[in-house]
Amino acid sequence: MQWLQQYGEVKKMKLFDTHSHYNDEQFDEDREEIIKKIFEAGVENTVVVGDNVENSKKAIELAKKYDFIYAAVGVHPNEIAENEEEISKQISQIKGIVNKNEKIVAIGEIGLDNHWVKDQKELQRYAFLEQIKLANELNLPIVIHSRDAIMETIEILKGKVVPEKKGILHCCQLNRDLVKAGLEAGFYISFAGAVTFKSSKNANEIIGMVPNDRILIETDCPYLSPEPNRGKRNDSRNVKYIAEKIASVKEMPVEEVARITYENGKRIFGMK
Ligand code: NI
Repeated sequence: MQWLQQYGEVKKMKLFDTHSHYNDEQFDEDREEIIKKIFEAGVENTVVVGDNVENSKKAIELAKKYDFIYAAVGVHPNEIAENEEEISKQISQIKGIVNKNEKIVAIGEIGLDNHWVKDQKELQRYAFLEQIKLANELNLPIVIHSRDAIMETIEILKGKVVPEKKGILHCCQLNRDLVKAGLEAGFYISFAGAVTFKSSKNANEIIGMVPNDRILIETDCPYLSPEPNRGKRNDSRNVKYIAEKIASVKEMPVEEVARITYENGKRIFGMK
């Protein structure tokens, strides 16, 4: 096939960026332009993820406008209200916007985060568990955000409270116990820019732990640009660097990584 590549006739890889934030204000200036560019670059699907009620609504708007965009809706642990009653209101608002919209493919991002806030553990847990219930009610998978909360996340994964449709450990922290617990609970592991950083010394080991039918790629853009674009605003065109990293670890052609992660993405989100 080498000669085909030389003549540029090989079909572009189909890439699935399973976690993006085109609802973020960092894209306000040039959102349409960037969305057009990522599609032209071979990104055939992306899930725009909400982290509060307002930008979950924006994610739905984008999903309605663009065929190749899907939406996830939820309240991120750093966006929860200050008491249970208010959190329940947030979650019922999320429930209210889900109704009968076929392009909402997950509840997320939801989870636990001790990085920025340390005194909200109980409330974060409450919001997480209530949204897991919502996912079950709606028969959707969840997208888990877990940062500096490895033990607590493992406890939830092991506690048989995860939804029937399972879900994704998004931008998965490169921790062996967390990945093991996620895989055992039936979850998919999604890798983002951090696996390309030189400082991520155990990236190869962690990538190697994940079977081919459970691995996903994402950008989490506009955050977390991978090498060689670290420090710049991220967008889905960079998801190919994550695919390349996985290809080098698993000793597979990058086209094959693109194909399996694309199929895995469609499967977990229940997309046709
Ligand atoms: Ni995110």
